[in-house]
Amino acid sequence: MHVSIVGSGYVGTTVAAALADAGHRVTAIDVDPDVVEQLNAGESPIEEPGLEELVARYGGDELLGTTTFNRAADTALTLVAVPTPTGPEGAIDASYVASAVESLDRVVGDDHVIAVKSTVVPAALAAEIAPLVSGATLATNPEFLREGSALDDFQHPHKIVIGTDDADGRVSGLFEELYRPIVANTDPEPAVVHTGRDEAMLIKYANNAFLAAKISLINDIGNIAKLHGVDAYEVADAIGTDPRISDRFLRSGVGYGGSCFPKDVNALINTARDNGYEPTMLTAATALNDRQPDRLLELFDKHVDPAGERVAVLGLAFKPGTDDTRNSRAIPVIEGLQAREASVVGYDPVAQLDGHDLDIDHANSARAALAGASGAVVVTGWDEFAALDAAFNAMAEPVVVDGRRIIERREGITYEGLTW
Ligand code: UDX
Repeated sequence: MHVSIVGSGYVGTTVAAALADAGHRVTAIDVDPDVVEQLNAGESPIEEPGLEELVARYGGDELLGTTTFNRAADTALTLVAVPTPTGPEGAIDASYVASAVESLDRVVGDDHVIAVKSTVVPAALAAEIAPLVSGATLATNPEFLREGSALDDFQHPHKIVIGTDDADGRVSGLFEELYRPIVANTDPEPAVVHTGRDEAMLIKYANNAFLAAKISLINDIGNIAKLHGVDAYEVADAIGTDPRISDRFLRSGVGYGGSCFPKDVNALINTARDNGYEPTMLTAATALNDRQPDRLLELFDKHVDPAGERVAVLGLAFKPGTDDTRNSRAIPVIEGLQAREASVVGYDPVAQLDGHDLDIDHANSARAALAGASGAVVVTGWDEFAALDAAFNAMAEPVVVDGRRIIERREGITYEGLTW
């Protein structure tokens, strides 16, 4: 099949490369000429495991970049994978999607399918996107990719969700053809969910809201466990054996960050309120997530008065395996330490907090961050932190408050786990 994709960010590039690898011809449209040039030179504009190799193999050939929307007219279907950042007051900003759809509508024929992959609430889809489509058919096809395993998630999905209000099955047929090689290569076979346009988007929101709320629930239980001197991880391991609960996403600690969970839960809250409904569970999940960094700092306060002291923050990325710091729990933790007048030295194996308005020193190793520090907090569960040992000896005061259960309790340090 010949398909086009608008947007070469982490979703768009991953999808484009994987579809080329699945045997399709892919036209990748991006407004940034540098990104297009990179793609055509076989260089991936983003870092995801396995992606570099695929872009090197297909870039400039089966995967062809362009800045020209006209090229979408040669294809049967266009996937729109552009950002939907949080706009004013927590609502999503659908303007990038709107502008892509408007440009596509000008050039494609009536039998073309424009499928929105970006996460957009149904209200914005109806009010801001659908009116821009004059001839083509508008569909939705949300993505469930995790950063750090995006390619593998796309190539071996649990489910593929196709949202169309097209009654005659033509659009569904096109998607079946698009995903056939992926379905055939995935064991167990993924669920292919054919549903309405809005339903598909709500599936995406519900999926993320459920996982975010699951983390907040185990954090709530974890906070209670800590008060009783109980290890929340023992509790989680046991309840995780119940298949109705499952053992995934039961790691309690300093909370969730990233580009999806906080944004999507907020967008869902916002759209609910716009319609006169107060989503109690979702607001509680968010409030609890916002509070976990404070709990970490309160534990720290029990051992160290950080005013005027050097404090090490281990981990800046929102999770291990990425350099992404969007909504990282490191940000509120550092803000809290700075409000206490600590001098913060941060270390992460790959992430830097550039672009955030936080004035910290970046150390180039965990050992250097810990040297002379009157305490450390752990915000990201990088494996290398588990191997730290002698580095703690160089601390002025060996106090470690761990938000990710990555460091083992040991002789010679004062260790506090957030929920254990
Ligand atoms: C998430 C969804 O998993 C993915 O399906 C969706 O498409 C985008 O959002 P991502 O943000 O890449 O993916 O990361 P994920 O691995 O899900 O972790 C999100 C956050 O939750 C991280 O900050 C992580 O540290 C935290 N987390 C995760 C926990 O605190 N506890 C857990 O048990 C699991």
